[in-house]
Amino acid sequence: MSAAAPLGSVNIVLAGVGKMGLALLEGWLKAGLTPSAAALLDPHPSAPVQALSERLNISLNPPIGKLKAPDVLVLAIKPQLLDQVAGLAALAGPDTLVISILAGKTIADVGARFPASRAFVRAMPNTPAAVGRGITGLYASPAVNQAQRALAETLLGAMGQVVALQNEAQVDAVTAVSGSGPAYVFLLAECLAAAGVALGLERPVAEQLARATVEGAGELMFQSQDIAPAQLRVNVTSPGGTTAAALEVLMGADGLQPLLTKAVQAARARAQALSG
Ligand SMILES: NC(=O)c1ccc[n+]([C@@H]2O[C@H](COP(=O)([O-])OP(=O)(O)OC[C@H]3O[C@@H](n4cnc5c(N)ncnc54)[C@H](OP(=O)(O)O)[C@@H]3O)[C@@H](O)[C@H]2O)c1
Repeated sequence: MSAAAPLGSVNIVLAGVGKMGLALLEGWLKAGLTPSAAALLDPHPSAPVQALSERLNISLNPPIGKLKAPDVLVLAIKPQLLDQVAGLAALAGPDTLVISILAGKTIADVGARFPASRAFVRAMPNTPAAVGRGITGLYASPAVNQAQRALAETLLGAMGQVVALQNEAQVDAVTAVSGSGPAYVFLLAECLAAAGVALGLERPVAEQLARATVEGAGELMFQSQDIAPAQLRVNVTSPGGTTAAALEVLMGADGLQPLLTKAVQAARARAQALSG
């Protein structure tokens, strides 16, 4: 991966300041972005976005015609609204790096709406970005130069880890694994709580146990970067013990692996269907 580029006063236009856009903006500000170098576009900015823009004097919904071609244009709107931001095409010049985090939309899809631009990055972050613990898969089109790639990694790295991808098709796989992945983990907490209720625990107690277990196991894994998840599992599984009894079910022929494989395949198929 290239060395991180300093943010300094790099000129950025952010289109769409919802959950992901705000997480990005907050990360950039923490990473040293000069607030006056950013412009935010969102037809219905939320109260936190309005407050942030007022407090730091970040330009919010300036007339497009008054903006100069930015170094970077970041698209963080819903995928189905891509055509609505095509009006920004005149803003993005040949030297503007266009970064899209739109699920399913390919570089060809975005490029068709921004014909003057050459350099495109397609990226897929996930929601732990909101607490600086996201992970983003990034694919850069061949026209992206070294400096732009380093800048993209810095911008996306402000929300957590960044993984560079070898080909664009892998972005849909990243979408299915880590983009949608936090929901799978939340579901795990829900299912564990429901299973506890079925064993006779009061619901609030079961929910507290399940939640703390997922939070604690995640944190333990985070603090044990040198140890593979499989080894962490082995470390807490005594032969013939209670955990082993449960894992025999979860790791059986119709256990968690085939189910998750099927689930991520469905997510990837949905991502692929969003292109266009
Ligand atoms: N959330 C995730 O887990 C996740 C993970 C990875 C990638 N993504 C991708 O990130 C993108 C944004 O997702 P999100 O969850 O942040 O969605 P979101 O919270 O709905 O944010 C999108 C924002 O864009 C605004 N918007 C609508 N039309 C616009 C326009 N023409 N110009 C500028 N802004 C406009 C929306 O305003 P209104 O609400 O008024 O419409 C909203 O504030 C999506 O493409 C998604 O695929 C999301």
